[in-house]
Amino acid sequence: MRVSDHLIKMASRTLFVLLSTLAFGLVLSSVSRPAEAQGLTVNFYNKTCPSLELIVFSEVSSILNLVPSLAAPLLRLHFHDCFVRGCDASVLLNSTEGNVAEKDATPNLSLRGFGVIDRVKAKVEKACPGVVSCADILALVARDAVVMVRGKFWPVATGRRDGLVSFSNETYQLPQPTANITTLISMFQSKGLSVKDLVVLSGAHTIGISHCSSINHRLYNFTGKGPALHQEYLSKLRTICKPNDTVTFVEMDPGSFRTFDTSYYRGVSKRRGVFESDEALLTHPLTKAYVLSHAGEASQAEFMEDFGNSMISMASVGVLTGSAGEIRKKCSVIN
Ligand SMILES: *[C@@H]1O[C@H](CO)[C@@H](O)[C@H](O)[C@H]1NC(C)=O
Ligand SMILES: *[C@@H]1O[C@H](CO)[C@@H](O)[C@H](O)[C@H]1NC(C)=O
Ligand SMILES: *[C@@H]1O[C@H](CO)[C@@H](O)[C@H](O)[C@H]1NC(C)=O
Ligand SMILES: *[C@@H]1O[C@H](CO)[C@@H](O)[C@H](O)[C@H]1NC(C)=O
Ligand SMILES: *[C@@H]1O[C@H](CO)[C@@H](O)[C@H](O)[C@H]1NC(C)=O
Ligand SMILES: *[C@@H]1O[C@H](CO)[C@@H](O)[C@H](O)[C@H]1NC(C)=O
Ligand SMILES: *[C@@H]1O[C@H](CO)[C@@H](O)[C@H](O)[C@H]1NC(C)=O
Repeated sequence: MRVSDHLIKMASRTLFVLLSTLAFGLVLSSVSRPAEAQGLTVNFYNKTCPSLELIVFSEVSSILNLVPSLAAPLLRLHFHDCFVRGCDASVLLNSTEGNVAEKDATPNLSLRGFGVIDRVKAKVEKACPGVVSCADILALVARDAVVMVRGKFWPVATGRRDGLVSFSNETYQLPQPTANITTLISMFQSKGLSVKDLVVLSGAHTIGISHCSSINHRLYNFTGKGPALHQEYLSKLRTICKPNDTVTFVEMDPGSFRTFDTSYYRGVSKRRGVFESDEALLTHPLTKAYVLSHAGEASQAEFMEDFGNSMISMASVGVLTGSAGEIRKKCSVIN
């Protein structure tokens, strides 16, 4: 197996872990998973680009070693891609004359990490020109970003193709930080994702930051309806975010925002969820039960397992396969 040649060449411990879990993924791939149902397979590029996952991981790890704060934005890019038009890399396309693309939608999505994707894509193109889709690169990069912040590896099925269009007017399908539980559930269900996927994927807020501008309405114009932010936490947030502040940011999971763990659920359970959409998880019996049970240290491993499974489901939403779409040469423009 060619991958083992690389293993000898690049004998780093992390890569070893990556590869052994990858092999485990291959065994698992005989079990029916949402990805397979959509025509994706783990190791889709085993003949056409055998070193793909090594190239992606080595690029992502060297970037994140320098700029760890990019892990959350890279995960978010994949999420934003999948919720609009499916996981077809439409989020990466630039606007063109006469068309405003998703990435330039208002309200500004404040997405970051496009440069990382371009860098990874360039490396992959050098090794295997015209073979690997940008949509697959997004999925692999998101997984590797989570692994880099000490999350658990999951096998990413590949074989997606890239879409040909991107429309800013379709970004309404993205759940907003102000959304209530009813809206969140129906938005996830419209993508074929379950209530469990909602509460599990919300756990991604264990990493990353939010700008004060996204939460200031909660801090200074608080109606007091519904489950309120914890008073002490509210006061703390007010000292960080001054009225009309657009530059400062807050940690989504204070004290642990660079580590993938269950402390997000502990925060939410204590009514310290930064967004209304975090707090909303306490207002439905299923999501509330998940938050409360994972607020305990013991359920960390289960969360990691759940997160991988929900990512596999999300990464299968609306994918293009076979001869649909294309394999973009550059991720920001169609060929
Ligand atoms: C390559 O992938 C195909 C299906 O995607 C599979 O049938 C085959 O066994 C794989 N080969 C190796 C060497 O992993
Ligand atoms: C897409 O837009 C970005 C800036 O918004 C630019 O840096 C990049 O070069 C553009 N891509 C192409 C292929 O023109
Ligand atoms: C939108 O976001 C980009 C960077 O993500 C930023 O450069 C730009 O100023 C933002 N535009 C507005 C109107 O906020
Ligand atoms: C979104 O914009 C595209 C391109 O301008 C247009 O073809 C499409 O009809 C619009 N869709 C909606 C729902 O407005
Ligand atoms: C949830 O939000 C939607 C959209 O803003 C709104 O129509 C609905 O009434 C809200 N539901 C509850 C229970 O507050
Ligand atoms: C304050 O909140 C209320 C109710 O949500 C809203 O109608 C009002 O426009 C808000 N005011 C400001 C200044 O944001
Ligand atoms: C903040 O913005 C509101 C309008 O959005 C304005 O009424 C208020 O004076 C501003 N406050 C400060 C401190 O600049």
